[in-house]
Amino acid sequence: MEYSIKEIEELVKTIEEDKKELDYESFRKKHTGNNGILTQYLKKIIDIPNDQKAVYGKEINSVKEDVLNILEEKKKLENTYYSSKKIDPTAPFDINSNKDELQKFFTLEGSKHPLTKEVEILVDIFSSMGFDVLESRQIDDDYHMFQSLNFPKGHPARDMYDTFWTEDGLILPAHTSTMQNRALKSFGPPPIAVVLPGRCFRNEATDAGHEHTFHQIEGVYVDKNISLGNMIATIKTYLEKYLNAELEVRIQPAYFPFTEPDCEFVISCPFCNKAGCSTCGHSGWIEIMGCGMIHPNVLKEADIDPDIYTGFAWGFGVDRLTMIKLGINDIRYLRSGNLNFLRQF
Ligand code: DAH
Repeated sequence: MEYSIKEIEELVKTIEEDKKELDYESFRKKHTGNNGILTQYLKKIIDIPNDQKAVYGKEINSVKEDVLNILEEKKKLENTYYSSKKIDPTAPFDINSNKDELQKFFTLEGSKHPLTKEVEILVDIFSSMGFDVLESRQIDDDYHMFQSLNFPKGHPARDMYDTFWTEDGLILPAHTSTMQNRALKSFGPPPIAVVLPGRCFRNEATDAGHEHTFHQIEGVYVDKNISLGNMIATIKTYLEKYLNAELEVRIQPAYFPFTEPDCEFVISCPFCNKAGCSTCGHSGWIEIMGCGMIHPNVLKEADIDPDIYTGFAWGFGVDRLTMIKLGINDIRYLRSGNLNFLRQF
């Protein structure tokens, strides 16, 4: 096969053109890819007659060197371009997308998560009833999770709250009761009326009714002459406002180290009026939260004299209440990030 200098001149021309037009990747593919033009020229050397091999080899190798230099330059240019480009990580879309792409996203307006909405509705109800609000922490310590709540080290009831620990001994709170001591100290001296919403965590085998992460709202009320009657009336009032229904209520025995007596608050099912339905498990009643009179040791730990003051506290799961209100049958939907589910609310 003859080698013609013309062919190489053509190649050099194409390279000059492509150098202006193409980006790194397109240029690389077109010239040095498996089927690239330069690759073909390089392979051709086997077929060139021996007496012309040296000249051809010299020419084509010099073109190859130019191509490699062009590639290197292009790579450098692209790297500087991308590293200088500022990206706004808070933008709700990729600012690098083209306009048509963005249009698709602009029509999708964001909205609050159903749980956030329900927490806000509940907190509004409590505010209208005169309660202060303080959000709980998402990382706490042994003192607030257990000791200040009358679970000394080694207390068997610690096992009721199996949560996550960091390597340096901090705790992801298993309930919002972690905030009781702080609330009693910072809103005291009594009268104290405060609600403590927050995210909680438990080491759960998850199923339709259990999640490793959930929201609770704790309530704390302390003053002189406070009784279980005040507790029942307060909890009943806000549940009736929230569920927009008249409820029958009852309390039944439970066990918590931080209350005395300890109660489970039970309401008549707002959907079937005690006739029995799937929401109440056909019993007509729903166990809605733990509550009770604050244990004297918990008051003492926050420098409140239990001989002068008494109080009640409760803690309920916002997820469970939201599920009852909105008719959601699997708690795992709430944190699934499934837009089809979320858009219903
Ligand atoms: N912290 C308890 C739990 O998550 C619920 C609870 C029970 C909170 C009684 C209270 C209370 O404030 O008084 O299981």
